[in-house]
Amino acid sequence: MNILHVSAECFPVAKVGGLADVVGALPKYQTLMGHEAKVVMPMHKTNFLFKNEWEVVHKSQVISDGQIHIFTIIKALNHELGFELFCVDVHGLLDREKVYGYDDDPFRYLIFQLAVLEWLKKWEFIPDVVHVHDHHAGLIPFLMKHGYDFVRLKQIKTILTIHNAQYQGWMSKDNLKYFPAWDEWKTGMLFWRDQINSLACAVKCADRVSTVSPTYMKQLSFESNGLEDLFLQEFHKCKGIINGIDEEVWDPATDKHLPVHFQKNKIQPGKKQNKQLLCEHFGFDAELPLFVFIGRMVDDKGGDILPFAIEQAFRLHQSKMNVIVLGSGNPEIEKAFAALAEHHPQHYRLSISYNEPLSHRLYASADFLLMPSRVEPCGLNQLYALRYGTIPIVRRTGGLNDTVVDFGDAGGFGICFNQSTVEDIIHSINRALDLFGRKREMNALRKKMMNINHGWHESAKEYLELYQQ
Ligand code: GLC
Repeated sequence: MNILHVSAECFPVAKVGGLADVVGALPKYQTLMGHEAKVVMPMHKTNFLFKNEWEVVHKSQVISDGQIHIFTIIKALNHELGFELFCVDVHGLLDREKVYGYDDDPFRYLIFQLAVLEWLKKWEFIPDVVHVHDHHAGLIPFLMKHGYDFVRLKQIKTILTIHNAQYQGWMSKDNLKYFPAWDEWKTGMLFWRDQINSLACAVKCADRVSTVSPTYMKQLSFESNGLEDLFLQEFHKCKGIINGIDEEVWDPATDKHLPVHFQKNKIQPGKKQNKQLLCEHFGFDAELPLFVFIGRMVDDKGGDILPFAIEQAFRLHQSKMNVIVLGSGNPEIEKAFAALAEHHPQHYRLSISYNEPLSHRLYASADFLLMPSRVEPCGLNQLYALRYGTIPIVRRTGGLNDTVVDFGDAGGFGICFNQSTVEDIIHSINRALDLFGRKREMNALRKKMMNINHGWHESAKEYLELYQQ
């Protein structure tokens, strides 16, 4: 099958969150399964762009509201990705350092999508499916079906995968002037509650819709930032497929970022040495339990309550624990995490950054990973933790609910709680500290979790079934 993925992010080219990891891995596994999977994304100015060689494969233009936007499609000559990667450059619009966060984001991503379609209609590669990810590519199914300029693409099937429905790509009506001519009978498809809504439009127009876990799929019908009715209506074509992880990038037996490697049949010595080295680096006592949080510092991830929970846990346990926090996000939340460093210099470290190598070392060294998410469509960090023998402490929501079983339940190995509250987090930290004292049990849990398979194989097959439908 010929598959074209369209996404704003793709690891290792440009990563903000888990979307990049999925788009960097799924096509690779689809290629290994004998399909032809390719990825197209905007040309962000990242290290990957400068460190790799590229070939120009297409040059053309998009005309939007009378303005001409020249675009160039470049192809990566790097063969290590495991699939063909294309980037779209529109000078001044897409060639910027950040993936998101500019005032003109809606316009930038509209022009990106129009450029992809302009190219696709002339390209000799004809995909069987165009697989769009999140709202940044959400207008593509509409334009392919109802845009007069893209009739050649009308018969190609489209699938939308939702990685996060909190963000929907809203635009005011005035922006319609930037769209190329479409069948006006279909204008309603673009709208949700009086605004152009790219995600809602994709849910309506794509042939199939998936999201990244079965629990999140169910949750979308009663909690999806205003789209609840839409999901109820379109339920028949929606499916939850849990994400896999890239088992080559995330393998404690070969991980290039780890000072010491370890395997699931011999976990203890390797994990201990990694922890020892990391604790020495941060000036921590390695005998104490080590908790980590890795992720975006936003409310959705529980970032607003976690600093308070950590503060109280330090007080309750007279600092008999160490905590390392890695991530960035909302400035207020960053400040709250930073304040902890002043009060607990012996037991707390904070790195406000995106640091892939450090994150690998944290998964390998920590005893517990904290994920108090309010919204977690799938969550990959808990899967990385499981593969590295680190016990995840998670709130039962979305994909966390589908992948972590509490150690108190049959077959369990993690720590789960129900509410996004300081109290629930502290209660879970208390349970973790208790468990830490029972070394044998801890080791048995580690072994159990490292034996679970979260590779892409099964999920890639489910996507294929969806394409075949
Ligand atoms: C988004 C979601 C996360 C999911 C990831 C990949 O970042 O917030 O839960 O794992 O996408 O699908």
